[in-house]
Amino acid sequence: MNEKWKKIDQYAQQWIKEAGIRIKDTFQQQLTIQTKSSRTDLVTNVDREIEQFFIENIRKTFPQHRVLGEEGFGDCLTALEGVVWIIDPIDGTMNFIHQQRNFAISVGIYEDGVGMLGYIYDVVHDELYYAHKGTGAFLNGIPLSPLAATSISESIVSLNATWVTKNKRIDANVLAPLVKDVRGTRSYGSAALEMAYVASGRLDAYITMRLSPWDFAAGLVLVHEVGGIVTNLYGEPLNLLGENSVLVAKPGLHEEILNKYVRK
Ligand code: IPD
Ligand code: CA
Ligand code: CA
Ligand code: CA
Repeated sequence: MNEKWKKIDQYAQQWIKEAGIRIKDTFQQQLTIQTKSSRTDLVTNVDREIEQFFIENIRKTFPQHRVLGEEGFGDCLTALEGVVWIIDPIDGTMNFIHQQRNFAISVGIYEDGVGMLGYIYDVVHDELYYAHKGTGAFLNGIPLSPLAATSISESIVSLNATWVTKNKRIDANVLAPLVKDVRGTRSYGSAALEMAYVASGRLDAYITMRLSPWDFAAGLVLVHEVGGIVTNLYGEPLNLLGENSVLVAKPGLHEEILNKYVRK
C-alpha cells in the first residue's frame, strides 16, 4: 500500500473504532426514533450523529475527498471522480433499535469509481472486516481465505422472506425454488454484515432486491478480494450512484443461481 492509502487507511480504522465506542455508549440512552420513507424505514439520532462524526473528520483531514452518506450530511454526488467515502453509519438500524446487535458500520473508499478500501465493523462483536484492493481481506487482522465453489444443495443463502412473497420487485416464484433447494436460508437484516459473512464463508450467497450504494460499497471491496462475485440479480455490475438488486455469491454458485433460477 502506498503512503497515500496507508494514511487514509489509518484514519479510517481509527474513526471506525471510535464510532463503534460512541455507538456502544448510546446503549443505555433513550433513542430518538423517526421514520423516513415508510413505517419500516427507521432512523435514530445515533445514525445521524455517527455520520456527522465521520464527515467532520474527513472534511478536516482530507478536504479534497467527497462523501456519500445514507443520512444526507455528505455531498450530493452525480459522479465518482476523485476519492469518495461511501458511508453507512449504522447498517441494520432496525436491529440496532430492537436488538442492539446485528448491525454494522460500513465504509467503502473509492477512487474514480474503483473500490480501494472496505470496512465493515460489527460493533457488538468487535469484528472488523477489512479489505484493501489487491492486498486481500482480513477479519480482525487475520487473512480471509479465497472462496471455494460450493453446490446449491450444500449452501446457506441469505435472503429476506419478502422476496418469496408477493412484492413489487420480483415474482415470488423466481426465488422460491432456490429456497427449497438450498441447505438453509438466513436473514440477518444488515446487508453489510451479510456481505461480510459471504466474504468470510459464514454464508455462501446473499440475495436482495433493493440496496443503495452505502449498503454494499464496503462489502463489494471485501467480497472481490476473496474471489466472490457481486452483481445485480441479472448478472450486471452494480451502479454505485443508485439502487440495485444484489446477488453476492461464491464463484460457481453465482453462475448457478443466475442460470438455474433467475434466467430459466
Ligand atoms: C438496510 C439493511 C437491510 C436491507 C435494507 C437496508 P439500514 O440498511 O441493510 O438489511 O434489507 O435494504 O436499507 O437502513 O439499516 O442502513
Ligand atoms: Ca436506513
Ligand atoms: Ca444500510
Ligand atoms: Ca443505515
